[in-house]
Amino acid sequence: MTARPGVIERYRAYLPVTEKTPIVSLGEGSTPLIPAPRIAAWAGAPGVKVFLKYEAANPTGSFKDRGMTMAITKALESGSKAVITASTGNTSASAAAYAARAGMKCVVLIPDGNIALGKLSQAMIHGAEVFAIDGNFDDALEIVKKIGAASPITIVNSINPFRIEGQKTGAFEIVDELGEAPDFHFIPVGNAGNITAYWKGYKEYHALGKCGRLPRMMGWQAAGSAPLVSGSPVKDPKTLATAIKIGNPASWQGAINARDESGGSIGAVTDDEIIEAYRALASVEGVFCEPASAASVAGLKKYVSSNSEFARSTATVVCVLTGHGLKDPDRAIAVSPKPRKVAASVEALLRELKIG
Ligand code: F0G
Repeated sequence: MTARPGVIERYRAYLPVTEKTPIVSLGEGSTPLIPAPRIAAWAGAPGVKVFLKYEAANPTGSFKDRGMTMAITKALESGSKAVITASTGNTSASAAAYAARAGMKCVVLIPDGNIALGKLSQAMIHGAEVFAIDGNFDDALEIVKKIGAASPITIVNSINPFRIEGQKTGAFEIVDELGEAPDFHFIPVGNAGNITAYWKGYKEYHALGKCGRLPRMMGWQAAGSAPLVSGSPVKDPKTLATAIKIGNPASWQGAINARDESGGSIGAVTDDEIIEAYRALASVEGVFCEPASAASVAGLKKYVSSNSEFARSTATVVCVLTGHGLKDPDRAIAVSPKPRKVAASVEALLRELKIG
């Protein structure tokens, strides 16, 4: 238990736990839903009511904590002593933290050289056993599935159904705060667990009468790794948004169902469009997310440019910002003007500022 209730405490009635379940929580969830009128204008739809679900505010800096509190709690309840995950970074950071809190061993497989520094540092400091494989995320997940089947270690990738259960609470929070489901839900898509989970959450709340409508689910992949858009797995996915550099998503069918049942779509945005949105969020709204997260907002701009009726509307839109900008400081520095050198004097600085 934590002083601030985590998602299991907050949404206990909708999750597979009992009074006896030993909850492992770091006080995750209850993240800010930030109105973003300047981003709406930037996207070309000033009348659209855009909200940013800032999942960076979770304890390890990404949305993964919602699912991980459930996965580690259930692993502990079942007597498991160790967990394993393949990851593009955030899942490994979250698994390592929650496993540490539960006193469990954590094994992490990452694609060598392809995860952001902040995420790697988290897995390491929390004491996970980290293996960098000579392959991509999809290769790592295949290995994890085989190890999970052959040994008592618990897989905490989103193929673990408890991950999806925890992550669906994001949808609950949005409905609880807005008093209704949004018209559109924009979300980055990699392994496709999160779009599957949000859709499950919205549908469950709708069935309970907590909202009167369901949103259209608008998923966005990076153009160089967009298997759900092309309809077939991508063997060598490419994108600078390393979190969603995935060629064969585990929850493929969940994403397709979310798209088709909701009347939504899954599209692709280029790395340039992702970086443009990433910079805009930071510079016009003061919201710092990692590049993969900005795919949702890049997708919003793309959708606006292709749909003039939507652009002129007053629809309510939620964009999920899945991870913190500090996860990948190298990228922020690479796309920003460098600090200027100046002598340590008032006069020198005033000359540089061209005032006075
Ligand atoms: N955004 C971020 C920041 C992510 O880390 C991920 C996935 C996604 C979006 C996509 O979510 O996979 O549920 O469709 N990261 C996983 C990881 C794959 O290993 O950390 P998804």
